[in-house]
Amino acid sequence: MASILVIDDDASIVETLDLYLTEEGYQVRTALTGTDGLNMYVQEPSDVVILDIRLPDVDGFTVLEELKEENENVKVIMITAFHDMETTINAMKGGAFDYIHKPVNVDELDIAIKKALKSLEMEKKIDGLLMEPSRSFRVGDIIGTGNEMREIFKTIGVVSKSRTTVLIQGESGTGKELIAKVIHNNTSPDEPYIAVNCSAIVETLLESELFGHEKGSFTGAVARKLGKFELARYGTVFLDEISEMSFNLQAKLLRVLQEMEFERVGGKDHVKVQARIMAATNKDLKALVKEGKFRDDLYYRLNIVAINLPPLRNRRQDIPPLIDYLLSKINLELHKKIIGVSAEMMDKFMTYQWPGNIRELENILVRAAVVAKGQVLGVNDFPELGKDDPSAATSSDQTADIFEHPEPGKFLTLDQVEERYIRKIIRETDKNKGEVCETLGVSRPTLERKLDKYGISFERD
Ligand SMILES: Nc1ncnc2c1ncn2[C@@H]1O[C@H](COP(=O)(O)OP(=O)(O)OP(=O)(O)O)[C@@H](O)[C@H]1O
Ligand SMILES: [Mg+2]
Repeated sequence: MASILVIDDDASIVETLDLYLTEEGYQVRTALTGTDGLNMYVQEPSDVVILDIRLPDVDGFTVLEELKEENENVKVIMITAFHDMETTINAMKGGAFDYIHKPVNVDELDIAIKKALKSLEMEKKIDGLLMEPSRSFRVGDIIGTGNEMREIFKTIGVVSKSRTTVLIQGESGTGKELIAKVIHNNTSPDEPYIAVNCSAIVETLLESELFGHEKGSFTGAVARKLGKFELARYGTVFLDEISEMSFNLQAKLLRVLQEMEFERVGGKDHVKVQARIMAATNKDLKALVKEGKFRDDLYYRLNIVAINLPPLRNRRQDIPPLIDYLLSKINLELHKKIIGVSAEMMDKFMTYQWPGNIRELENILVRAAVVAKGQVLGVNDFPELGKDDPSAATSSDQTADIFEHPEPGKFLTLDQVEERYIRKIIRETDKNKGEVCETLGVSRPTLERKLDKYGISFERD
């Protein structure tokens, strides 16, 4: 049973909380002064402390400090009397886990307590994992071994306790969105998670998508529409492909991040932003800043906490556990009973470059699983990877080798291979661009650029 200590000088609040929380199944203790509360905690620590900022003897911040000294990981939820940003920021800086406003709303309190307990549980899990460095571990379905991924798990644990902005960077298919969802689920699981792809919509539309608009603010604005920042409530707005945002909108976003409020398009009301904002990019934002293509002030504002996902080729030790994990997912979805990949195929996987990273691995496993006859996926099940192996080429020669140079003994350039592969995928799939991107493991702008580069016209959308 989780234990809670309530420290507040208002006897009626203490009594109400005691009743309510006991009813909810917590083990509750209460104190009316900071000193009493501290003594009780020292005698026997609680999982969560609910702490008033104004106390008769010592102020809540001092109590918080001493609690933290006693136990660095204590989860303290502060009760603040005013909607006062400064008090709140100070409380959070002082290491409070969360805060709620007076008069106390039990739903709000409930969410805060559940979050605190969840984070406690996760810390324990992560601590346990950190003690076994050689094991492959997972947090919320993120597979990762090795130091780089372990540091990322730690960062996820830390940011899940706060609502700071997080910038997630990594090549396409490295798991940026997955990380964003895990952070969201650990921070505000019951609130909306809203992803916006900044490259997919034209600027003016994106602005009204994000901020909403008032009725009549432009032709076609027949009614007031709420934007993503409002719809996300206390949840998450995930700004994907942030590098593609126009300069103009970057300035507006910066203002939102600084002031945590905005106006709807065509409106005058100030709307508060309560959502946590995360952004992702597969570009090197810092380099774009240097080239003058991305605002440096916004970059610094987004980069408060950065998670840099390493490409799969730099963490090859993750390939076998990822294959296990992905295959069990695929088996479930496709009703298959695939056990694994052959040793020979595994060797290929371990040396392949994986330009599309984990998405690419997932896609080729799905494709192989669909056509495979046996329970072990072998070289023949992966025609796209088997080409450099002469025995593989002969055994699957019904798929003409598009990567072979027409003249014997000569080889194609990388660009030629890329172009042929893109054409092949478009030819063989009667799909829309989104699906082609998915199959190739690239983003929409990347595909567009490549179509442009190779002069491929592809109008199906
Ligand atoms: N560490 C991981 N463990 C398990 N699955 C993963 C991991 N990383 C990524 N995946 C899976 O790989 C696929 C691609 O991940 P995701 O969409 O998060 O990548 P992304 O970085 O956002 O890619 P893009 O830049 O192309 O949008 C998803 O199906 C995701 O679940
Ligand atoms: Mg993505």
